[in-house]
Amino acid sequence: MKIELKIPESEDGLAVNQLVAQNPPLDTNSLYCNLLQTTHFAETAVAAWHDGELVGFVSGYIKPEQPDTYFLWQVVVGEAARGQGLAKRMIQSIFQRSNLAAVRWLETTITPDNEASQRLFKSLARDWSAQIDVNVLFDKQEHFGGQHNSEELYRIGPINK
Ligand SMILES: CC(C)(COP(=O)(O)OP(=O)(O)OC[C@H]1O[C@@H](n2cnc3c(N)ncnc32)[C@H](O)[C@@H]1OP(=O)(O)O)[C@@H](O)C(=O)NCCC(=O)NCCS
Repeated sequence: MKIELKIPESEDGLAVNQLVAQNPPLDTNSLYCNLLQTTHFAETAVAAWHDGELVGFVSGYIKPEQPDTYFLWQVVVGEAARGQGLAKRMIQSIFQRSNLAAVRWLETTITPDNEASQRLFKSLARDWSAQIDVNVLFDKQEHFGGQHNSEELYRIGPINK
């Protein structure tokens, strides 16, 4: 499958919204939020295209008060494009950009039941010879009122790109 990685454009926001909705267990965001990801946060996001169709997307940002840390908000790969290393390739491509030159840490949150995602970030940490530290960031009861599983923060680093 020939897949091209690109910096997103504002017109991609709708396709991102639809791709996320089609791929549980990701939480959907408003279309407006996805439009912000593909405009203000485009330089820290990546879109993967196959035959004119969006098949993967990573959103994230450099933490405002921690410029050495990239916070990955969501990673999604459509079912047909899974199992070919696309999620890893997208994340690694962001880390190769000059705007992330000073970034040595990756943070993301994962629910305890999302094994695919845990494997993905363990695999990245292995490639980067980095350690992983795990702590609950948003708690099921305290933050989500029992309506959502706890989100555990994975802090990975220091990263050897
Ligand atoms: C998680 C997800 C992004 C993985 O995408 P992908 O392109 O298939 O992942 P990759 O091919 O890059 O795999 C990276 C590593 O994770 C492992 N992995 C990926 N999916 C897996 C699964 N379902 N079960 C076990 N391991 C898995 C791969 O074996 C690989 O490990 P390795 O390098 O040790 O061989 C994709 O399954 C997805 O979009 N899921 C739904 C949304 C989601 O849960 N997103 C993450 C939460 S933000």
